[in-house]
Amino acid sequence: MIGVGPRNNIEFYNSPLSAQGYLNDPVTLGEDRICEILREVPGTVIEVGCGAGRMYEAQGTSPSKWVGVDYAQTPLQLLAQRHPDVRVVQADAAALPFANGTFGAALLGYHMLESILPAARRRQALAEAARVVEPGGEVIVTRHLGRSYHRVGQVLAIVRRQAHEFGDLVGPARHGAGEFRMHVLGSREMAAATRLAGLVLNQTWDYRDGGPVSLRSVSVVERYSVLRGVKQ
Ligand SMILES: C[S@@+](CC[C@H](N)C(=O)[O-])C[C@H]1O[C@@H](n2cnc3c(N)ncnc32)[C@H](O)[C@@H]1O
Repeated sequence: MIGVGPRNNIEFYNSPLSAQGYLNDPVTLGEDRICEILREVPGTVIEVGCGAGRMYEAQGTSPSKWVGVDYAQTPLQLLAQRHPDVRVVQADAAALPFANGTFGAALLGYHMLESILPAARRRQALAEAARVVEPGGEVIVTRHLGRSYHRVGQVLAIVRRQAHEFGDLVGPARHGAGEFRMHVLGSREMAAATRLAGLVLNQTWDYRDGGPVSLRSVSVVERYSVLRGVKQ
């Protein structure tokens, strides 16, 4: 049941199999669109939950215009080996060690928000991304769509008392790397959390094929702007 044992998935993300596994994953067409946007950002981009730098490599931006943050040491070490010139910071998404408005844009990619439990910490992670981006800048988030993701699995998890709220899932992690817990955000939760963070939704597209979000979409990219004039 959720609440027993470690809740933050860091053991999974710290396993070398996981760090290398994410790096090997192909960049989707939806992520290509993210890269196009981030390449045009005049300021520096922060990627929260950057892993071993798959999206940094896909963007192909100058190392001076990108900062990677992750709470797990293993992927950061792999990133530093591959790109010694890049700035990486080990920190939790819910407590970013940067001043307000430091960056031109933030990316919370590859559905990383879903691995943050509980809900208060997810809200804090969104608020932190918005805080460290300058007003008018961009925050890009990817996530599964609650309506399409393992609906039957979620119900079963609740029935088996492995999950305490709808949207929480627990199961074997990829690459045989232990157990993984995640929360598929409902659209109401996402709307409330982004409103609190001062984020305004501008655009959405399908994470896989980069096209419009449709009933067949399993996951989505959401592009937000940081409200100007919000007290920071
Ligand atoms: C699904 S992996 C994606 C890695 C990378 N963004 C990519 O696209 O390949 C999610 C990453 O987010 C990191 N992460 C998860 N929760 C985090 C948190 N609370 N604070 C910082 N990093 C976190 C994990 O360590 C992991 O490296």
